[in-house]
Amino acid sequence: MARHRIASLTDVPENGGKAFDIGGKSVLVCRTPLGVFAMDNMCSHAFAYLEGGKVKGPHIFCPLHGVRFDMRDGTPSGTLTRKPIPVYPAIIEGDDVCVELPEA
Ligand code: FES
Repeated sequence: MARHRIASLTDVPENGGKAFDIGGKSVLVCRTPLGVFAMDNMCSHAFAYLEGGKVKGPHIFCPLHGVRFDMRDGTPSGTLTRKPIPVYPAIIEGDDVCVELPEA
């Protein structure tokens, strides 16, 4: 795993998310009262970015068809897709958000 310092914590809206490009990969970081989560910014159902989806508790809802993903492990709910989205460790270091991605 390689740790990437990607943003200041204040760059990520509370109860929302923001996508960052990390080496050509779009990674969505979401900030909630439960913590900060990082995941692929792509729904596993069809081609839709998850950025802009509603964030509620540990879940994010795809903006296109509304599948709910658990940001802790990427698990979807419902029947549209059973494929989880990849999630990554997100670490707060001081005022910064770091994400650990597998080595390319
Ligand atoms: S594209 Fe995300 S639920 Fe369909």
